[in-house]
Amino acid sequence: MSQFPIINTTLASIEASPQVRQVLHHLHTQALSEDPFLGGGGPTDGALDKFVALDPDKCALVYLLLRSTGARFVIEAGTSFGLSTIYLALAVGQNAGLEKSSGGGKVIATENEPTKAVQARRNWKNAGSEVEEWIELREGDLRETLEEGLPEEVDFLLLDIWSPLALPTLILVHPHLRIGATVVVDNNIAAASGYKDLTAYLENPANGFKMTTAPYSGGLLIAVYIGAGKL
Ligand SMILES: C[S@@+](CC[C@H](N)C(=O)[O-])C[C@H]1O[C@@H](n2cnc3c(N)ncnc32)[C@H](O)[C@@H]1O
Repeated sequence: MSQFPIINTTLASIEASPQVRQVLHHLHTQALSEDPFLGGGGPTDGALDKFVALDPDKCALVYLLLRSTGARFVIEAGTSFGLSTIYLALAVGQNAGLEKSSGGGKVIATENEPTKAVQARRNWKNAGSEVEEWIELREGDLRETLEEGLPEEVDFLLLDIWSPLALPTLILVHPHLRIGATVVVDNNIAAASGYKDLTAYLENPANGFKMTTAPYSGGLLIAVYIGAGKL
């Protein structure tokens, strides 16, 4: 039993081996034990050694969204120590395994901070092949690392990044989104002012998105790319 009941509820929402569960339990406990992070607008706020991880209940939702949509090509903007990435990789691996002729799948993870990248790789290794083999980590500024080599069709984009980087990332990925692709943005209520430009972009009918906000802590924006001018 965890000191954080939300971790048990979350782990009950996913399909995973005991090894993966143990790693997730450990990482969530560490993340929930750290002091609250009040930044979000940029890396000047002392977050270099912090998880600033997606809340457990949001991780469960993201995992289930991926499973329900059969997502196989996923991009994560903002990876930190790779906690949320484990959920993405689990779902991608399970979806790819269900469709034998599917042509595989992968999670493209992105992290700018070298020490965080090292720790993320260590966490994925500890989780094992169920997770590790589905992840391609691109180290460096995602405005450069996502410029090329994206999958032709992206099924899911997780924007868990400092708010000024969210719209530039979406603009890079947008041409690759398949119709029906999902875009999830963390903390869109708590950081509403930082997300003004992103929200305006998503609301512009010419860009082809429909969205709603789920009332998780800080808000979780869920947008679906329905395509511009499709109706
Ligand atoms: C909110 S954290 C991600 C948390 C992670 N998704 C999780 O749930 O475990 C955002 C991360 O984005 C990284 N980051 C900030 N600017 C970046 C950039 N320009 N390119 C790539 N990563 C960046 C930060 O170092 C930080 O680790």
